[in-house]
Amino acid sequence: MSADLSPIDTAKFVAAKRASAFIESGMKVGLGTGSTAAWLVQCLGERVRNEGLSIKGVPTSSRTAELARNVGIDVISLDEARWLDITIDGADEFDGELNLIKGGGGALLQEKIVATASDRMVVIADPSKHVQTLGAFPLPVEVIPFGWQTTKALLEETITALDVLGDQITLRMNGDRAYVTDEGNHILDLHLKHIGNARQLALVLNQIPGVVENGLFIDICDIVVVGHGDGRVEIQ
Ligand code: 5RP
Repeated sequence: MSADLSPIDTAKFVAAKRASAFIESGMKVGLGTGSTAAWLVQCLGERVRNEGLSIKGVPTSSRTAELARNVGIDVISLDEARWLDITIDGADEFDGELNLIKGGGGALLQEKIVATASDRMVVIADPSKHVQTLGAFPLPVEVIPFGWQTTKALLEETITALDVLGDQITLRMNGDRAYVTDEGNHILDLHLKHIGNARQLALVLNQIPGVVENGLFIDICDIVVVGHGDGRVEIQ
């Protein structure tokens, strides 16, 4: 580890390093997306190169696939793997029941499919991701481009009926164009502030035509490894 990492990068790195110790040769491993997951991929790549660790990695985005290949991890598709021993990924928020908001990096769809196809999902995070109640981080919802404004209006109606509406729903942008996910979809970010019943919301959102998936991960995560800026690590 470089000595000049900022406290936040130290926190992400030590969480990733600890979680990388869960991985043994022969495992099929889901590889998350984002800056914390990138540390994990680097740590695993180091073990592949230095210790001869032999794993198959299933990336959750094109970015992670490229990084994994660059660090020497043998990358396969989920269809080749079918089922995984473990997935390790970051999160935008986690609560006391280990429910999550994910998708800040735009990869929630592949992330949810891969995590759900794993015996265990481990989240790696810095302490800022721990919340009492989910929702301060805007909830990403992946929608198909066709008729997305209609889908947005339906989302507004639905969350108003559930009494969880914050101030707005925004189309995620990439410069002056709509952000496009690896699956060719758009992302609507729901600024809710406080999600009282995350389980209900997760189910209801996916009933809306045009919605592909939402960033609430309910009962999917098994363990959260929290790294701190001073190098300490706790497991929740
Ligand atoms: C990507 C994600 C990321 O895991 C989440 O955004 C956390 O990212 P980071 O580790 O960079 O804070 O869900 O879709």
